[in-house]
Amino acid sequence: MAVLLLVLLLCAGSSIAQDVLSPTVNIIAEFKKLNHMDRRIQKLEETLTKVLSENEALKTLVQDSQNKLESLQKENEGKKVAFSAGLLASGTGQTGPFSDSKTLEYKKVFSNVGNAYDSNTGIFTAPVKGVYYFRFYGHCHGGTTMAISLLKNSQTQCSLHDWKPASNGNASNGVVLTLEIGDQIYTQLWRNTWVYDDPASYTSFSGFLIFPL
Ligand SMILES: *[C@@H]1O[C@H](CO)[C@@H](O)[C@H](O)[C@H]1NC(C)=O
Repeated sequence: MAVLLLVLLLCAGSSIAQDVLSPTVNIIAEFKKLNHMDRRIQKLEETLTKVLSENEALKTLVQDSQNKLESLQKENEGKKVAFSAGLLASGTGQTGPFSDSKTLEYKKVFSNVGNAYDSNTGIFTAPVKGVYYFRFYGHCHGGTTMAISLLKNSQTQCSLHDWKPASNGNASNGVVLTLEIGDQIYTQLWRNTWVYDDPASYTSFSGFLIFPL
């Protein structure tokens, strides 16, 4: 019976099967061989299971990385924001004085990547949440007072001021701001003050996104 079982377990027609049938075969030795083979198969099975599960983990990792990359790419779309504009598109002249504060419309657009600055209104509208840098320069003639503030949603952030300089005056200021989508940034000339510009663009307004949040 044991011999028959052994024959069934081994490949039919194999040389071992032939040996088993021969009277010189050592049954104990054959069983030992079988036992050894069985242990090797078990080990192989264990290794295979391990490799398969590692492969699954790798697949998940690759998929996760791919998802992350795609979401980062999506996030980065439309996050290139930078503009610079001079006050007058052409010509030479004073802006002001006005009886009330006046939003300055910088008409000479040097750059407007992302189209967040509107030269019709002088207003920059944040297209993404992030940290931005803005700066503005003003030039005035002797004897005139120049005062300009930078505002965020009608709240003054920082200002420049030059009180009746003898010949002419230059002033500037800049600020790093954390903005939400839709926040509006613009500059205003104070009431009863002047600012001057000509083709050299002494008076300008610039801003850019440092990084999104
Ligand atoms: C203001 O800047 C202009 C342009 O650079 C310069 O010609 C002028 O001398 C400056 N004014 C003063 C008072 O420094």
